[in-house]
Amino acid sequence: MSVLLNDIRMNKKSTGFVPTMGALHQGHISLTECSKLQNDITIVSIFVNPTQFNNQEDLQNYPRSLTADIEMLQRSNCDIVFTPEIDEMYPENDRRIFDFKGLDKVMEGKYRKGHFNGVAQIVSVLFEIIQPTNAYFGKKDFQQVAIIKFLNKNYLNDLNINIISCDIIRESDGLAMSSRNQLLTVEYRIAAKLISETLFKFQKNYNNFTVSRLKKNIEDEINANPLLEVEYIDIVDNDTLQSVDYIETGRTTACIAVFAGKIRLIDNISF
Ligand code: PAF
Repeated sequence: MSVLLNDIRMNKKSTGFVPTMGALHQGHISLTECSKLQNDITIVSIFVNPTQFNNQEDLQNYPRSLTADIEMLQRSNCDIVFTPEIDEMYPENDRRIFDFKGLDKVMEGKYRKGHFNGVAQIVSVLFEIIQPTNAYFGKKDFQQVAIIKFLNKNYLNDLNINIISCDIIRESDGLAMSSRNQLLTVEYRIAAKLISETLFKFQKNYNNFTVSRLKKNIEDEINANPLLEVEYIDIVDNDTLQSVDYIETGRTTACIAVFAGKIRLIDNISF
């Protein structure tokens, strides 16, 4: 990577970087396509980062499909794929603890303890190595985007990287694309479309409800399907990620995590 990058930098080429954990789908490809439009060289990393999993079973079951991933990246004309091994990324235990000023204490951070610290560890290692001009992240991981922007500004400012967030890509029935979708059995996969259906329904008529009523209605409608169980639904300010009492158009997002059996899915919609 270093040799390739030296060459790219000497030739003053701009670089777009898409970090991933593999099991690629059209959501990832939309990030590489965006990068290709905006940069000379597009680099994708594939690394299932152990430090961001708070549950060993989840880490073991995380889908892996390196050969198919590389073929998919080749078809989309991505320039470089970086697939490091664990001991290359973590030659020794990474003991760094990041302070996100509370951004990591809500929603995903509350239910997946240490998750964002692990994300910050790997993203900072990758950013230090690749030092891209632009780095691309999907808005499905709404809180992750906020954390990475904070990390970039407060810990990695010297690297001068622009963080670019790209829209959620959805399956034809509305389910947000995710590597975890392929772990769903047919029954759960069909049930899972209720998540985005419900979010979209209340996005249209949110004005008719108080925020607490809105959250309750979304939760009840999803939980009405016995295959689904809402873990949390929150309606938050886009910058602070704190719960709000009133929805302000352009400033507020509803975020949800739902168990479809053992598979945990997340989604969000902006108001
Ligand atoms: O969003 C992901 O796939 C991961 O959290 C990331 C950013 C690649 C870090 O491992």
